[in-house]
Amino acid sequence: MHCQKIVISLFEYFTMQTQGSIGVFDSGYGGLTVLKEIVKNLPQYNYVYLGDNARAPYGNRSFDTVHQYTKECVDWFFNQGCHLVILACNTASAKALRTIQQKHLPTIPQIKRVLGVIRPTAEIIGNFSTSKHVGVLGTTGTIQSNSYKIEINKFFPDIQVHQQACPMWVPLIENNEYNSRGADYFVKEYINQLDQQNPNIDTILLACTHYPLLLNKIKEYTPVGTNIITQGEIVANSLIDYLQRHPEIETLCSKGNERAFYTTDSIEDFNQHASVFYGENVQSKLARF
Ligand code: DGL
Repeated sequence: MHCQKIVISLFEYFTMQTQGSIGVFDSGYGGLTVLKEIVKNLPQYNYVYLGDNARAPYGNRSFDTVHQYTKECVDWFFNQGCHLVILACNTASAKALRTIQQKHLPTIPQIKRVLGVIRPTAEIIGNFSTSKHVGVLGTTGTIQSNSYKIEINKFFPDIQVHQQACPMWVPLIENNEYNSRGADYFVKEYINQLDQQNPNIDTILLACTHYPLLLNKIKEYTPVGTNIITQGEIVANSLIDYLQRHPEIETLCSKGNERAFYTTDSIEDFNQHASVFYGENVQSKLARF
């Protein structure tokens, strides 16, 4: 009888909460490459995107700074009514996700969930490699955190993970220089450095959501036949699976096919650049904290 009462009041508690959009976060534009794939696969939900352009890039910042910035943005999503937030940023996933999940969420009385992009990628990346040598390209923060090596080896202990930081790539992309000769120089430079670590690498993970914009150049400088893996589809599939396994969260996600875009910096700049990442025109609003 007592148990039944608890179940009923939990049900009342869940149903009392107002539904909210799914939040998708990145330090800048990169997460739009992930949102694009999520929307393609799950168009029925409403989404709110936030790019913290005013403080991007996060890639070279300390753990404490990335955690502080990411937490502020996550709280902003919660204030918008979101119950589920995806950190579509590897740097934030590597440096802030665990602390937010373990220390911040338990202090919030409502049901809130924050997911990252590293685990879903690590779960399947080993399936692409026959040589058992996987290269990971990411920001300095993501690579120094060692998160990919640790997570990939949990699922694929026989895979050797070779990591290469590419600190110049995000600034080139954020400054609209991804098609320039300067971009060629730095793409070749970091791909060569990865290749020198081990010539048997047959799979390269682009572990930064900005990097798909350099995909054509990256292909030019990698050996023919190398698998180059981007994360958009992986994260989208993982979200489908998550929502199926967590009906208590799925019911809190509003449906209506709506998207809203926010930036912490100039909305004119955001509108101009975002379409390249998202593949459609974007009208953004200013996010106020
Ligand atoms: N798109 C972010 C990532 O996936 C990166 C960037 C940054 O702000 O340096 O890591």
